[in-house]
Amino acid sequence: MEPLVVVAIKWLFILLIVGCALYFLSVLAYIPLTGESAFIPTYRWCVKHILTEAPIEAGARFMDLGAGDGRVLVAAERLCGVEAVGYEFNPVAYVVCRIALWLNGSRARLVFGNFHHADLSEYDVIYCYLTPFVQEKLFPKFQTNAKPGALIISRIYIVGDWEPFRTLQYIGPNGPEATYFYRVPEA
Ligand SMILES: C[S@@+](CC[C@H](N)C(=O)[O-])C[C@H]1O[C@@H](n2cnc3c(N)ncnc32)[C@H](O)[C@@H]1O
Repeated sequence: MEPLVVVAIKWLFILLIVGCALYFLSVLAYIPLTGESAFIPTYRWCVKHILTEAPIEAGARFMDLGAGDGRVLVAAERLCGVEAVGYEFNPVAYVVCRIALWLNGSRARLVFGNFHHADLSEYDVIYCYLTPFVQEKLFPKFQTNAKPGALIISRIYIVGDWEPFRTLQYIGPNGPEATYFYRVPEA
């Protein structure tokens, strides 16, 4: 009979391997499987920089399109005092996000679902860090469903042919990068 500590270490090791496999599957498999963007979070310092530079009013309704592990929701709540909501359709990211919201005592709302079906007209601020392809798919929705005057914050990728009112440039994790701030125009 193996000592308890050996059994415990074995199980911890198995859990670690399974956790890593699920994480990598969730990062890699979701691009080919869904044609959407993968679970790759924005660096925390980058989130902080973007949110402190963004003109966001306390009490604003804030949406993260693809909440990932919830770090943007938590930071937006803490730094800007917003009412945060996130959509997430990747089950691994969703579970990680739920746990992170709970550990941070966050009041953010997390919806398990596809953000292409979300009603964006309710939000004053929309944050996205996706891919050029997904941004392109989202553009008609921004044009018809987002609230005029709402702030759209897009990390790295531009939003259709709209003109950003501010381009925040900084040195990101992989070199120089930009985050674009837009106002949704009147229809
Ligand atoms: C690049 S990550 C960004 C995560 C987070 N916003 C951040 O900046 O740290 C994009 C996230 O969007 C999610 N996602 C992509 N397409 C989605 C869709 N159609 N509906 C809901 N979530 C989606 C992915 O699962 C992933 O977690």
